[in-house]
Order: sequence, then C-alpha cells, then structure tokens
Amino acid sequence: MKAIQYRTYGSSDVIEQVEVPIPSIQSENEVLIKVKAAGINPIDMKIRMGIMKETRPVELPFIPGGEAAGIIAAVGAGVTKFKVGDQVIALTRKNAYAQYVSVNQNLVLPKPQGLSFEKAASIVVTIGTAQSVLFTEGKLEKGQKVLIQGGAGAVGGIMVQMAKAAGAYVIATASGDGVALAEKLGADLVIDYKLQDLTNIARDIDLVADTAGGEAQGKLFQILKPGGKLLSIATPPSQALAELYNVNAYFVASDISAKTLQNGIEMIEAGKLQTVVSKVFKLEEAAIAQDFLTAGGVNGKVVLAVE
Ligand SMILES: NC(=O)c1ccc[n+]([C@@H]2O[C@H](COP(=O)([O-])OP(=O)(O)OC[C@H]3O[C@@H](n4cnc5c(N)ncnc54)[C@H](OP(=O)(O)O)[C@@H]3O)[C@@H](O)[C@H]2O)c1
Repeated sequence: MKAIQYRTYGSSDVIEQVEVPIPSIQSENEVLIKVKAAGINPIDMKIRMGIMKETRPVELPFIPGGEAAGIIAAVGAGVTKFKVGDQVIALTRKNAYAQYVSVNQNLVLPKPQGLSFEKAASIVVTIGTAQSVLFTEGKLEKGQKVLIQGGAGAVGGIMVQMAKAAGAYVIATASGDGVALAEKLGADLVIDYKLQDLTNIARDIDLVADTAGGEAQGKLFQILKPGGKLLSIATPPSQALAELYNVNAYFVASDISAKTLQNGIEMIEAGKLQTVVSKVFKLEEAAIAQDFLTAGGVNGKVVLAVE
C-alpha cells in the first residue's frame, strides 16, 4: 500500500511516500480500515520536528496520522461492533497517512450519516478536544461567558459552536478571514487579535479556552473573573500568573472516546454543528499540506484524501 513516512526528524523535507505491506490485524479486537481521508493535526508536525521526543516518542521510520475516516476492510475474531463494509471514523493515534490502518475497535465509531469522508476525518480530534475543554474540565453552563482564543481554528471553530449551543455568551479571537468565519459559526463577539487588544474588550469571563498558547496567553489571565478558569490545549499556563489573578489555569490533554464524541456527533446528525474543512490535499501532497497548516492563517481543518 501507499503510505507517507519519515526516517529522521526534521522539516517537511524528511517526508517521503513509500510502498509498505498492508498492516495485519494484531489482536482479535482490531479492525483494518481502508482509509478514505486522514485529518492533519498540529501535533503531527510537532512529532516530525522531534520537539516531542520526550513526551511522545515514536519509532522511526514513522507513519503519521492520528485520525481517519474510511471503510472497514477486515475485522479481528473478537470484533462485535463492526463488519466489513461499515463506514467509520477512528482515533488511530498514528499510521493514518496511508491506504490502510489497523486500530482497536474501541477507538472506532460509525461515520455520521450524510458526512463526506473528508469532513468525517476532521471531527474526532476537534470534537473530542472541544468536549474535554468546555464541558469535562470547563464545566461550561448556560449563561456563562466564554472566550475561545483561536476561534476560527480547527478545534476553536468547533468550540465556538458547541459553547453557543450550550447557551453560553461566546467571544472568539481570530484574524483575517477567520473573523467572518467565527461570526458565521455563532460567536456573539469576535475580536481581531491582530488589530484589537482583547483586554480592552473582554472582561469578567468565566472560562477561557486557549487553542493558540505562546506569548499571547499572558493577556488571557487579565480578562477572567476571580475564580475563573483558563484551560489551554497549546501551552501550559503560568501558575504564577494564575495566583496573581486568582484564577485556575492548567493544560488539558484531550480525552477522546465514544463518550466524549457523543455530544458533538449528535449535534452533527441534528444539523447543529458544522464541520469546517479548509483544504483537502492528496495523500502524496502530505508535505505540502503540513507546511500549509504550519504557515498559519488556515481556518478550519486540513485533510488528506486517500485513494
Ligand atoms: N491538548 C490536546 O489534547 C490537544 C488536542 C488538539 C490540539 N491541540 C493543540 O491545540 C492547538 C490548536 O490546534 P488546532 O488543530 O485547532 O490548530 P489550528 O487549526 O492551527 O488553530 C490554531 C488557531 O490559533 C490561532 N492563533 C494563532 N496565534 C494566535 C494569537 N496570538 N491570538 C489568537 N489566536 C491565535 C490561529 O489563528 P490565525 O491562523 O488567524 O493566526 C488558528 O486559528 C495546537 O497547538 C494543537 O497541537 C492539543
């Protein structure tokens, strides 16, 4: 089968397309998926650059790809949830930039009806992460004020919609075309972070969901009400600033499971959650696609279509 891999850490130049054997089912609870589309996530580039060697070591050569949408091609003897031919989405964690990927059935769900494979490949990480931040950790409630830093990004765009559907007052930060997108997705107020200073506009926020991290995170402490929460999926927040502003601030590692995906998938099936796919590349364009996402200014998800 065709697969994308790299043998050493580095820039996108290390990415190559190779022919490798179709993976075999390793345990009775695994399924083999014929991949139709794979989602690209920023972590794919962080792993490739070698900056996560300590926290997320991988064996080289490595086939990237944490999520996929496709069709069940084979099932292990103990698989009860799926049969050959079922259309599915999966949290693969690795190996999805390929024509086939094998994965435990517990990390696989039926593809929401009516969603293309390309759109379906964009929802596992985004919805699971949005649910973990807003509701599992953030305990967001109707009437509360939430600010989504990066509200037109892949995860941020889903957060805007889920927070709005939960009855929160939603403020999003974005730039360029992302401002209009965040408005379209339902944000009550959008701050153009390149033109405006959010500390002049937002205050008394109950929950800040930070999907951008970095230096810009410093200002997010100032807009929370005392006792409010700053939850980041990008950079661990400063505990000194959390104490100074009397807020709770911590990094959230998403919990992606059938349970945490349920709310978002129900919303998609009810027509209440839009998937936002910014651009689809072919599998063989994986290096270009990764560079496209790294360059920034991408609104929504970048996906690889696999033939
Ligand atoms: N902890 C976890 O479990 C987990 C799970 C999923 C993702 N993540 C991480 O979360 C981050 C976001 O993921 P993603 O897939 O949503 O990426 P993405 O689509 O690239 O979104 C990032 C967003 O941040 C915005 N941004 C960048 N600098 C900003 C600033 N200074 N102020 C406000 N917004 C800014 C970007 O807007 P512009 O393009 O307009 O600059 C972009 O919309 C990545 O670091 C990813 O690795 C973590």
